[in-house]
Amino acid sequence: MTDKYTQLVSRGLGRDVAKKLGLPQPVQLRRYQPGAPLVTGPVLVSGDSAGADDIATTLLGWGLDVRRNALPKEKLGAIILVLDAVQHPGDLGKTVLAAGTSLRDLAANARVVTISRTAQSAPTPASAAARQGIDGLLRSMAKELRSGATANGILLHDNLATTSPSALGALRFFLSGRSAYVDGQFLTVTSTSGSLPTDSERPLAGKVAVVTGAARGIGAAIARTLHRDGATIVAVDIPAAGDHLAAVANSVRGTALQLDISRDDAGHRIIEHAVERHGRLDIVVHNAGITRDRLLANMDEGRWHSVIAVNIAAQLRINEALLASEHFKDSSRIVSVASTSGIAGNRGQTNYGASKGGVIGMVRSTAALMEPFGGTINAVAPGFIETEMTAKMPFAIREAARRLNSLKQGGQPQDVAEAIAFLASDAAGGISGDVLRVCGQQLVGA
Ligand code: NAI
Repeated sequence: MTDKYTQLVSRGLGRDVAKKLGLPQPVQLRRYQPGAPLVTGPVLVSGDSAGADDIATTLLGWGLDVRRNALPKEKLGAIILVLDAVQHPGDLGKTVLAAGTSLRDLAANARVVTISRTAQSAPTPASAAARQGIDGLLRSMAKELRSGATANGILLHDNLATTSPSALGALRFFLSGRSAYVDGQFLTVTSTSGSLPTDSERPLAGKVAVVTGAARGIGAAIARTLHRDGATIVAVDIPAAGDHLAAVANSVRGTALQLDISRDDAGHRIIEHAVERHGRLDIVVHNAGITRDRLLANMDEGRWHSVIAVNIAAQLRINEALLASEHFKDSSRIVSVASTSGIAGNRGQTNYGASKGGVIGMVRSTAALMEPFGGTINAVAPGFIETEMTAKMPFAIREAARRLNSLKQGGQPQDVAEAIAFLASDAAGGISGDVLRVCGQQLVGA
């Protein structure tokens, strides 16, 4: 559910009053519904490279209404800026300014997506400048969009084609309602691995997915979303949450595993349960996490150690067991839940920030260990998400956290779950060691 303020100001009299008073005006975001169109109107493909032509051809093949030049006053569902061939910052202007004049014609909840190359693989300082310039450009543009529209980017390593499988997978994710609360972010495609699903509504069909911390909140949403996408679910949570866990597992026709993930044998228990009950294990989502906030000056050992133990040490130990297992070798996927607190930091959360920054470090380092068997590992870093955890925050802090992002509202557990479902899919096989923020482009911090 969207928060009450957003409901009030997104239509009728409430909207008019908010506008007059200059109050934040969040809109109801377009979220994924099975069967819904990928975008809400024609798609403008801007850019004059061969890669841009390839993207336009691909989109036509997807049945989208594609424009290479904007038509006056036509409402656009999306603009794609293909900037894969820029060699110098001076090359950016033509495509960017042409797309810029069309921003006024964006429909509500439209999408802007850039496709470009990573600065690290640039052959010259000038091309590195052009490529890195797209980072600043995209993040600035995202802050200028309104009415639920978002801007995100795809970065291609080396000479990968604009139509490589995971570039197209990322493009579909960013265009769709699945990315409703992802704004001002990039996904990096590092290889040609991956494949688009034959059935785009059940991209996880045939997969067995373990979700930790699944009894409530974001974990329960992940279990439901992966199930909706076709996966068989093993829902894991502590024994004390057994009743809620059973309810979630039953609702997705999966199985429940009561387990404290900080136990030494947690990895072994997870593999054993998945293989014995479902015959295989394809996806592990490390979602379980706790907060024990205190200013560092008042931090006690218990608070510090428990957060490190659950939020990162448990994941490291489970991953060791997964990597050693013969049952986790078939294009397997690990997706970890980090937090923007692990990137930008948060007052009172040195322990939590250390654990979530740790998740990001772990993901980057483990990618190389997954690569030999076609596996990937990525993290999703949520910002402010409406859950029982954030409902406990003091009112004023909660309200500020909700509004201080480009979309001027908190995210829903489903928003985090959608990003995880994408990273767990075959379409994301060329994306590994990456961190995707689901934060509505939080304005404070990094
Ligand atoms: P929550 O507190 O509502 O749910 C966490 C679940 O993890 C609970 O069911 C809990 O029983 C389970 N859990 C805790 N310790 C466990 C253990 N040792 N073994 C097994 N299960 C355990 O939290 P929420 O909000 O759903 O958060 C989920 C994840 O998202 C966490 O990793 C959290 O740090 C992260 N996150 C949440 C944000 C938010 O705004 N809610 C923002 C950024 C990150």
